[in-house]
Amino acid sequence: METFWIRSGRDKLSPMNIVLGITGGIAAYKAPDLVRRLRERGGEVQIVMTASAEEFVTGTALQAVSGRPIRSNLWDKEAEAAMSHIELARWADVVLIAPATAEVMARIVSGGAPDLLTTICLATEAPLAVAPAMNHIMWSNPATQANRKVLEERGIHILGPGIGSQACGETGAGRMLEPDTIAAAVFDLAVGKGEGLLTGRKVVITAGPTREPIDPVRYITNRSSGKMGYAMARAAAAQGAEVVLISGPVNLPEPPGIEVRNVLSAQDMYEATHTCVGEADIFIAAAAVADYRPAEWREQKIKKNEESMSIDLVRCPDVLASVAALAAGPFTVGFAAETEKVDDYARSKLENKSLNMIIANRVGSDCGFDTDDNSVNVIWTDGEQRFPEARKSELARDLVELIARHFYAARGTDPQPRLTVISNIE
Ligand SMILES: Cc1cc2nc3c(=O)[nH]c(=O)nc-3n(C[C@H](O)[C@H](O)[C@H](O)COP(=O)(O)O)c2cc1C
Repeated sequence: METFWIRSGRDKLSPMNIVLGITGGIAAYKAPDLVRRLRERGGEVQIVMTASAEEFVTGTALQAVSGRPIRSNLWDKEAEAAMSHIELARWADVVLIAPATAEVMARIVSGGAPDLLTTICLATEAPLAVAPAMNHIMWSNPATQANRKVLEERGIHILGPGIGSQACGETGAGRMLEPDTIAAAVFDLAVGKGEGLLTGRKVVITAGPTREPIDPVRYITNRSSGKMGYAMARAAAAQGAEVVLISGPVNLPEPPGIEVRNVLSAQDMYEATHTCVGEADIFIAAAAVADYRPAEWREQKIKKNEESMSIDLVRCPDVLASVAALAAGPFTVGFAAETEKVDDYARSKLENKSLNMIIANRVGSDCGFDTDDNSVNVIWTDGEQRFPEARKSELARDLVELIARHFYAARGTDPQPRLTVISNIE
């Protein structure tokens, strides 16, 4: 298992200290799983529950999985004597609230501190992340949206919410993100500010699918979830890079500290890429850009009058090839998503498009797209390296490191010697 250690203002490398606030939403039942995911990554987790949260999940279960006594009462004399709320606020490298109710968001916005959790939020200098979880109408309520906006403006990281079926039986935006997604985002918060192999470098990354419109209600797209590209963006930022992420339509939280430019079609992605790639040191094309789009766009919805119909398709611009062809362009890395002859096709793409490196991955109904894990083979002109199946977030860290090493080798320079953030052990 991989463990992360951070240098957090203390004089030695220590595990990441996470204050996990659990509030009174139905998604609190996922809290034990979230604690496990945070601890798997090497986090020390101190749970702080609100009184409402105790209605949904027991302190006993949470104490067992976190390995630390639960804190909930601001007025608990014994607990306060052992570690006061101010010490707890200082101890935290990150404060995460998951699930975060509409109510706790409002309390944080107001600056009130009627309970232990919100007192810690006021007293900490650590990054604060909240993972909202509520009924979709509560989430879209103007009051909640106004609170979300204020929290974002104050630099508080909003993780999600996701869209999907809800405990109330309805469907919409308001589901808490999956524990593993939250855990990955939290670790990126702590490491994302770091300096590393790519400090002082600009990296442009594309991610997700594109949508090629047919008429006002239909489009052609593909199964890319954007997870690999987003993980690459977070990993590059964690290595100190200034990252621009050009994203097709995905259902993922915006990674903190990364400039995200949202696009829809292949043409949009081409244009967005060329507005910023000129200054980039490295370009990583992880997006699944459509190869073809409808030749014409119908202004009105096509009616089903005929037994069959055909749509003429024309080639979309090739974003990756166009960047690789730039004179004095960036170090260019492509992805090849293939269902067969994966390495062969990837190798020809590397050569035909004159790329520096290509990351070949098999895609199919059960692998590659929209999964949390991936296995890839990275190929360059005179070598290759296989990466066995791993979580996309972990894989991305290794891939970014490999890309950085090849980038410096190609440029004949060394990284700036300021590796202060992370050491991955085991
Ligand atoms: C059964 C039940 C489920 C609830 N689920 C949620 C929820 O998912 N999200 C939410 O924001 N509030 C939910 N609430 C309302 C909160 O529990 C309530 O606003 C509470 O005051 C929140 O307190 P806290 O933020 O201090 O934990 C629920 C209430 C009940 C009774």
